[in-house]
This record gives sequence, structure tokens and C-alpha cells, in this order.
Amino acid sequence: MSVGAPGKAERKTAKPRLLPGLAVKDGLIRHPFDLEFGVRTSGLIAGRHLNAGHRHDRHVTAYYAIAPSVFRGILVRWRQCRPIAPIDAYTFVDLGAGMGRALLLAASYPFRAVVGVELHPTLARIARRNLVLWRAAGRARVPMHMHCRDAADFPLPPGPCLIFLFNPFGAPVLRRLLRVWKQNFPDRAGQLDILYVNDEQKNVLRCEPGFERLFSGQIRRSHADAVADRTILTQQPGGEYAAPGWEDCSIYRWKGETQGLRD
Ligand SMILES: C[S@@+](CC[C@H](N)C(=O)[O-])C[C@H]1O[C@@H](n2cnc3c(N)ncnc32)[C@H](O)[C@@H]1O
Repeated sequence: MSVGAPGKAERKTAKPRLLPGLAVKDGLIRHPFDLEFGVRTSGLIAGRHLNAGHRHDRHVTAYYAIAPSVFRGILVRWRQCRPIAPIDAYTFVDLGAGMGRALLLAASYPFRAVVGVELHPTLARIARRNLVLWRAAGRARVPMHMHCRDAADFPLPPGPCLIFLFNPFGAPVLRRLLRVWKQNFPDRAGQLDILYVNDEQKNVLRCEPGFERLFSGQIRRSHADAVADRTILTQQPGGEYAAPGWEDCSIYRWKGETQGLRD
């Protein structure tokens, strides 16, 4: 056998290892969303297992997909906050998109486009596959794009943007994002809205001049989602995420730093 060539037995066992939390032996139970639509978004992966070799790895919280009812609930709240333009002018951007469940849900709204950004290559690959399935099934109403990169360096597209954050990272990354956005949106007051679910770092946003809080409160899971998430998380305890009957959420709008001076 030549040096370096894998033997037959090796080749057999050389299947890529699933990330911890994505195997049935880890207690994985598929969420009803996946069973209904034939996609793959279930699983709880602790942040310590999401190592992409990036300097921001240490700020990753965990992977867990949004409850569909909470996603729809925060979209209802946002539309009550009088966005400055019709929904079809907005690009929806999920920073920390994971396997893409929020993107799939967003693609049923008439956004201009739906964009996902995920740091971990395995999750981004699974998300891309889900997007392909979604399009093939005719469920994507709008263009969908997936990028594997650090959210902190992702340039937002022109025009109004709706940012979606499901508690993806810690305060240092969020602070950096706010700094970049403030530099890039000096003349775009009102064009940047942020939906923040499980808003653990909400104080970072609250302390940042120029961002106005439009909503803060609990958004309830539907009964079906509450049962599903409770069952999944009991079976697959990660110790870092518990799913009560609601998520603490907030919504912010970039008003521009000079707003106070103009008024
Ligand atoms: C709680 S999951 C949310 C998944 C998805 N947004 C959803 O709602 O279904 C958070 C995700 O953020 C990703 N993430 C954390 N830090 C990131 C960063 N700096 N850039 C891009 N993605 C990041 C994690 O890898 C994880 O997949």
C-alpha cells in the first residue's frame, strides 16, 4: 500500500463527523418544522463545539434554531413599528444564520432579498442545502443568499436593511457591528432596523447613541413550538439554552447620531 493512501477500512470509516449535538446518539430530535418541510435545521450545538478557527469563535453563543412562532411574532411587532419603507424595499439579513431556519421563514415574506451570514462552514453548508430545497419546492418568494463569513465584517447591502439576531454572539462582536454600522449609515437614518431575539446583550444596544428602542418584551411560543422545544431541549441538554414559553425580544432603529441636534 502506498504511503498516505487510505486503506479500505479507513475509507469506510472516513465519513465526516457530525458536529456534537447533530447526531441521534447526542439526543437529536427533529423539530416539527423539519419534518413538515423536509429540511435540516434541528439540533443544539454548544458554542465550544463551533470552532471555525476564527478569532470571534470564542464569542459564539450556541446553535439553536428559532421557534417559527417567535419569528412570526417579532415580524408582526416590527410591522407595527412603522418601518420607513414598504417591506419589499427591505433586505432581510440574518447575522448568525446557522442552518438557515430564519431565512426559510423570511423567504415567505415579500422582502427585496433574504441574506444569511454564518461563521461555521458546516452550518453554512447545511443552510445552503436547505435554501436549494426551499427554492425547488417553490417556497422562496424572493432571492436568497448565504455567506460563510464573520458577521462583524459583513457589508450591508444598499437600501433599507432588517437585521435579525437570535442571540448569536457576545457583547464584543455586537459592539463592533454597531460601530461599523454607525460609520456606514451616516446618511441612512431610519434605514437600519434590528430584531433581537433572546436579547442577552440588549444593554449594548441601549447604551449606543443613535439607536432607538422601539419594542421590548416577551414574544410567546405557540403551544406546538413550546412542546417541541421543551421536548428537544430536555432530550438534548446543552446547559446553555432553556426554552420557556416565550423569548425576550427587542427591536431597534438607527436614527442617526445627529438626530437630537436636528430636532
Ligand atoms: C442561536 S443560532 C441562530 C440560528 C438562526 N439565526 C436561527 O434563528 O435559526 C446563532 C448562530 O450564530 C452563529 N454565529 C456566532 N457568531 C458569529 C459571527 N461572528 N459571524 C457569523 N455567525 C456567527 C453561530 O455559529 C450560530 O450558528
